[in-house]
Amino acid sequence: MDPIIAANWKMHKTGREVEEFFNEFLPHLQGTIWIAPSATALRLASEKAKGSNVVIGAQNIYFEKEGAFTGEISAAQVADCGAQFVIIGHSERRRLFGETDLTIKKKIKSALDYNLRPLLCIGETLDERKAKKTSDVLTRQLTDVLEEDFNGVIAYEPVWAIGTGQSATSEIIEEAHGLIKDILKKLCKKGSDIPLLYGGSVTAETAPILSRTQNVDGALVGGASLEARSLLSIMKGFA
Ligand code: PGA
Repeated sequence: MDPIIAANWKMHKTGREVEEFFNEFLPHLQGTIWIAPSATALRLASEKAKGSNVVIGAQNIYFEKEGAFTGEISAAQVADCGAQFVIIGHSERRRLFGETDLTIKKKIKSALDYNLRPLLCIGETLDERKAKKTSDVLTRQLTDVLEEDFNGVIAYEPVWAIGTGQSATSEIIEEAHGLIKDILKKLCKKGSDIPLLYGGSVTAETAPILSRTQNVDGALVGGASLEARSLLSIMKGFA
């Protein structure tokens, strides 16, 4: 399968900055890119992306369809703004906003109900790695959440590698991805077709190494995806 490169812009970029990004990025784009801007820029980004190979997605949704949930945004609403995928269970959502495997499971179901491809993030903290609990954590984050019919994407993002400049080594990634692939095959009907991305301090320098790492089907990129030139170099590194 072609690698999937997904950009997670987190809480960055105003509308004008989104426009500037696309104006610089689109003329050089080769291949497909997934971009998750802030909810406030979803519609604008979808309009800018029209007719290109940019797939727009959301960074989060709430699992209820509609109702009295001040400040929340539903799957139907992000789909209405042009989102085709949604990041679910990012470690920042788990750590800072109290997301649990149970809420994540409900969000995945809601995403699938509205034809949004869920991009589920999993990964261990540094303490969990030090305590040799990595495989337990990854197993739990998948088995407690995934149903047989899951046909989204998984991103392995060790929490200690996110935004730290300290990417996991190829050995660590290969070991974790091997385990995750085995679990996916057991849990999901389409388990062997589920793309598995790596995320955590991916840069233009690490992209070529990642692309040669076993069981890596792409990357989820945070900080290094904010500049058009940097994101284009990462894509080139994977091509
Ligand atoms: P990073 O973020 O590339 O800045 O480490 C990755 C992510 O949080 O998805």
